[in-house]
Amino acid sequence: MREIRIFALFSGNGSNLEHLVRSLHLQHLEEQKQIRFIGALSNNAQAFGITRCRSLKLPCEILPHTHFSTREEHEKAMIARIKPYAPHLVLLCGFMRILTPLFVNTFRCINIHPSFLPYHKGAHAIYKSYADINSAFGGVSVHYANEELDGGEIILQEKLYKAPYPTLEDFEEAIHALEYRLYPLAVQQAIKEIQCN
Ligand code: GRF
Repeated sequence: MREIRIFALFSGNGSNLEHLVRSLHLQHLEEQKQIRFIGALSNNAQAFGITRCRSLKLPCEILPHTHFSTREEHEKAMIARIKPYAPHLVLLCGFMRILTPLFVNTFRCINIHPSFLPYHKGAHAIYKSYADINSAFGGVSVHYANEELDGGEIILQEKLYKAPYPTLEDFEEAIHALEYRLYPLAVQQAIKEIQCN
């Protein structure tokens, strides 16, 4: 049995992280692979996701970016903390930092973004897609992360039409439900492509 080691980064609520762990941890895949969530890291000591990690019994590192004077110094410290876990994949689960080539070239990273990329990149994507009068839909995209904001090759994405949702809150709830369904599927798909050691 080959173990696929997964590490997660988050900054806030951590609901995607919790859904991923609950749906994938210890799952067996074809080719004798088993998924194992081995740890997480938050750049925000107040993040609710830390409480979720505790109840999931997932080791959680806390490394506030505010303790470092440059983005690079913070990334170097993150890399040093994550390397001992030797992850095959690093999943970004609402990690609110732009990553530099230093980080994305060290680990294979996957991100989830709540829009139908390339539309509505950046912060407040759910609001931006709901408010966009030129588009009938928003959506969810899961993609490999590179140094561009919400850039990188798409693994899976799905549109969500706005018409059935009378308020932003309704639409937002539906987007999150779509995220919880799509992210685990995309991770399974990415794992199929990994040559693990
Ligand atoms: C999600 O909407 C995700 O797409 C975006 O940040 C949000 C994180 O939510 N990148 P949570 O922390 O997983 O609840």
